[in-house]
Amino acid sequence: MCYVVYLESERLILRKFTDDDWEDLYEYLSNEDVVKYEPYDTCSEDECKEIAVWRSKNEAFWAVCLKENNKLIGNIYFHQNEPKEFLTWEIGYVFNSSYYGKGYATEASKRIMQYGFQELGAHRIIANCNPKNTASWKLLERLSMRREGHFKKKASFNKTSDGKAIWHDAYQYAMLEEEWFRMI
Ligand SMILES: CC(C)(COP(=O)(O)OP(=O)(O)OC[C@H]1O[C@@H](n2cnc3c(N)ncnc32)[C@H](O)[C@@H]1OP(=O)(O)O)[C@@H](O)C(=O)NCCC(=O)NCCS
Repeated sequence: MCYVVYLESERLILRKFTDDDWEDLYEYLSNEDVVKYEPYDTCSEDECKEIAVWRSKNEAFWAVCLKENNKLIGNIYFHQNEPKEFLTWEIGYVFNSSYYGKGYATEASKRIMQYGFQELGAHRIIANCNPKNTASWKLLERLSMRREGHFKKKASFNKTSDGKAIWHDAYQYAMLEEEWFRMI
């Protein structure tokens, strides 16, 4: 398959990462509040340099930039799950907190979903989030995704001081192809 590397919406450009994106990445991946629900800790400048290089080679990561000044304000993750014949993609997002509350994450996610359903032929797009991450599931509901599951103690990103997993619940949201085409 030939993958697209550039998408546009009203206010945003979604493009592949480049090595030079590390400073903008550092601006939000070094923020404890931003990475609180992510499976990783805050990142140093050196780590962000490595992440930018790694993401530039990984088709799942999209850099989200403002059209008005090219500022990178966040990222979308969009990856096809296995088995491939189930035509299911998973979406994720992390934004710079200075740009919350303006609808940018909604706009970027919608554009990626359009790409998924209308260009890649996705049958289902899903997303997982911690129920405590209200901003995340509110975003999924703004996107008209349906809460399909509440999984108990599904994941663990942290351990107690004596090495025991700290489990947390997960909501799973989804949208089907026919729901997308009914909505647009
Ligand atoms: C999840 C996350 C991306 C949501 O960010 P957000 O700013 O709430 O989402 P949006 O950018 O879509 O902005 C929506 C808000 O802007 C408002 N808004 C303003 N202008 C808007 C517009 N033109 N269109 C849509 N919404 C608009 C909405 O009303 C909404 O406000 P509300 O939350 O008070 O109802 C953000 O909290 C984040 O990056 N968190 C850290 C990473 C994370 O936890 N990721 C998820 C892991 S599962």
